[in-house]
Amino acid sequence: MKKCLIVYDSYHHGNTRKVAEAMAQATGAQLCPADEAQGKNPGEYEIIGFGAGIAYGRFYEKLRKAAAAMDLKGKTVFVFSTSGTGSGKYNDGFSEELKKAGAAVAGSFACKGYDTMVMKMFGGVAKGHPDENDLSAAKKFALSVVGGRRQVAAPVGPA
Ligand SMILES: Cc1cc2nc3c(=O)[nH]c(=O)nc-3n(C[C@H](O)[C@H](O)[C@H](O)COP(=O)(O)O)c2cc1C
Repeated sequence: MKKCLIVYDSYHHGNTRKVAEAMAQATGAQLCPADEAQGKNPGEYEIIGFGAGIAYGRFYEKLRKAAAAMDLKGKTVFVFSTSGTGSGKYNDGFSEELKKAGAAVAGSFACKGYDTMVMKMFGGVAKGHPDENDLSAAKKFALSVVGGRRQVAAPVGPA
């Protein structure tokens, strides 16, 4: 039920964008590509999610820069990534950066994303990911940190 913004960067195969969209669909969060984040006021949101693919063991630079440019002091955030291995360990370094900026990290999610950076001759790795199971896990995670879609109460009329 919290008002949520999801800032993401996804350029390799659109893997992280699929995860971000699934999370937004489940929670009613507003989606924002990292290169449009400068127009956003973190103060307008109760929770902010940051997601990206992983390049050489780190969150994409564009997302890290977008987060660094925001005032996150006292802000509740969550992080998510897609990568060839799907390892949740990649989220640790970025989570630390956000904590240093004064944010409270409410959760972390990771899943595999189709990767043609390695094994390109053999069709890459993690083909087909994120798949339905990954997206359903992403929705479940997002609901656990953000809450469900905002409900507009039905008007109460005369009996
Ligand atoms: C330049 C580059 C470096 C990568 N480095 C890693 C890595 O260190 N570890 C890993 O598991 N996956 C790595 N990957 C795979 C991507 O993290 C993975 O395919 C991710 O899902 C891409 O997300 P996107 O489609 O949202 O951009 C790399 C991909 C690229 C293009």
